[in-house]
Amino acid sequence: MNEVRPKDRAYQGYHRREIPREDGRLTHTDPGTPMGELMRRYWQPVCLSAQLAEVPLAIRIMGEDLVAFRDGGGRVGVLHRHCTHRGASLEFGRIAERGIRCCYHGWHFDVDGTVIDTPGEPPGSSIKHNACQGAYPAREAHGLVFAYLGPPDAVPDFPDYDTFHLPGVELVPYSIKHDCNWLQVHENLMDPLHAVFLHSRMGAVQLTAAWGEMPALEFLELGDRVCYVASRRIGDNVWVRFNEVGTPNFGQVGGFWEDGLAETFFQRVGATRWTVPSDDRHSTIFGLRHFSDELEAKGIGNKALVGVESLDIYGQTGHRPYDEMQRNTGDWEAEVSQRPIAIHALEHRGTTDRGVVLLRNHLLRALAAPPAPVPAVSGIVPTYTSNTVMRVPPRGGADDHATLKAVGRAVAETIVAANALDPADRAAAVAARLRKIRESRPWAKAPA
Ligand code: FES
Ligand SMILES: [Fe+2]
Repeated sequence: MNEVRPKDRAYQGYHRREIPREDGRLTHTDPGTPMGELMRRYWQPVCLSAQLAEVPLAIRIMGEDLVAFRDGGGRVGVLHRHCTHRGASLEFGRIAERGIRCCYHGWHFDVDGTVIDTPGEPPGSSIKHNACQGAYPAREAHGLVFAYLGPPDAVPDFPDYDTFHLPGVELVPYSIKHDCNWLQVHENLMDPLHAVFLHSRMGAVQLTAAWGEMPALEFLELGDRVCYVASRRIGDNVWVRFNEVGTPNFGQVGGFWEDGLAETFFQRVGATRWTVPSDDRHSTIFGLRHFSDELEAKGIGNKALVGVESLDIYGQTGHRPYDEMQRNTGDWEAEVSQRPIAIHALEHRGTTDRGVVLLRNHLLRALAAPPAPVPAVSGIVPTYTSNTVMRVPPRGGADDHATLKAVGRAVAETIVAANALDPADRAAAVAARLRKIRESRPWAKAPA
């Protein structure tokens, strides 16, 4: 039988060619734009520490051309790229014991942009007291260089997340350029169902077979975090994956290789990352890949593959043969191919997109009033991202989807309720509480 197609929806190419403008409120980050100004209120990674060697590094962040370098004294400078004298690029400058010298006429700038010397000017010239090179505060952490591009009187605390302090975990920095706007890269983190399709069912299994199971989903907005809780049935176990993003472009993802076959309680993250705009049509993920014996027990991850333009997870960079991208498509090309800037007005968002919609609304509200960050405890900010696998056999006759949701909710509530605990004890305390709820089974009371 021929499918009956409504006349107004078949062969409509001619009538569907118009491309509306992108949502500039969320996607534009040049100086003076609302999202650009929001992002400038947060410390942003701008390069890897390892990239600061003998010569300066040209970088582009939120539409600003900058240069980063480490001077002879070990201090990091992040300066406007064009010399304040007559505009030559400081990427061709000479790194000095203190600061950097422009190649063209030798003007000498400190890491804070003050002019140390203008060697061609006569003695007594006041020009160096009137000029300065634009500069931003910079600092290094875990092999990444962070800069603060916002108003100098509003420098925020540097966020020190709990996942940077876990015993036995090594953090390995990486960066990956994307030829598209930052938002479509970032919002992939709140699109848990793409893992079922893109990573499991539409090509080769890119992670583990468990990712191909359809999860029961909850989405939560908790202060400056937007989270999903994805709960999957794996035999007699339930795998609860709790992932978070933070205002405006921070995110973490749980361990990558979970198969749901063995119990684990509050196993922490596989990667921490920031999606930083280079300009409106280019962005870079700066991240920290986490390695530990527990996270890498299956021996799949490979530290040696983590660095500039490289990650040990399938499909994360654009450096693969086009044929492979077509046949076994990864995150990179799925995201970049949404157009240089995804056009929200053309989308047909459905139930799979609840997390993306929640995130966009969260960001729109943050433009008006940035949410207060989750308070630090002893200087350390608690985060939620984790995998928990516990034995919860299916209940005969009960709706398993409802059980999965209830288990996920109980796990998430247990983790969030532990925010105020001493960071030194929190992970063990959360794991103990999760073991307890596995015994008390609060979900058994949930309506079937
Ligand atoms: S342009 Fe830099 S010193 Fe002249
Ligand atoms: Fe993905």
